[in-house]
Amino acid sequence: MKNDIEQILVSKKEIDIIVKRIADELTVDYADKNPVLIGLLKGCVMFMSDVSKCLDFNLELDYMDVSSYNGVSSTGVVTIDRDLKTDIVGRDIIIMEDIVDTGRTLTKVKELLINRGAKSVKVATLLDKPEGRIVELEAEYVGISVPNHFVVGYGLDYNERYRNLPYIGILKEKIYKK
Ligand code: IMP
Repeated sequence: MKNDIEQILVSKKEIDIIVKRIADELTVDYADKNPVLIGLLKGCVMFMSDVSKCLDFNLELDYMDVSSYNGVSSTGVVTIDRDLKTDIVGRDIIIMEDIVDTGRTLTKVKELLINRGAKSVKVATLLDKPEGRIVELEAEYVGISVPNHFVVGYGLDYNERYRNLPYIGILKEKIYKK
């Protein structure tokens, strides 16, 4: 699996530092708010799990599964494959995301949560790919900006593979340009 990686972009050590920093920022802003952390499956799992373990205040966890990707390109059509179990009316929401690319997924999900009556909706993302942006969307909590490459690891996949890598790496082009 590691042979398919061109270059390590964010090491495990760097991820640990980012996770701690974002947890500290969320603690300042949400410690007395009992927020709902909503993870967008499946890419969020490592990030959400690691960040939430650093948060020493009351919160709830829930997940949505929305898809917009097929292979290495965004289709632009966002569909909900699994919905929330939590009533979010009047609640402060933090969406936990692996990467913001075009911004379409989050724009759609934010809109949906606000329409359902959330009190506030903010976004925490491990990675930001600003060059990929098609719609205007800024995450309030950003781990690190990355260049416009297809990256995998620490939850991010290529056709369901590489999620279990402990770091973020650039996938060799020959893997997806066959
Ligand atoms: P957006 O709607 O284009 O911002 O897409 C966000 C979603 O696309 C992320 O949650 C990922 O699942 C997926 N995605 C975007 N860029 C990458 C990448 O470089 N590697 C793996 N998945 C990606």
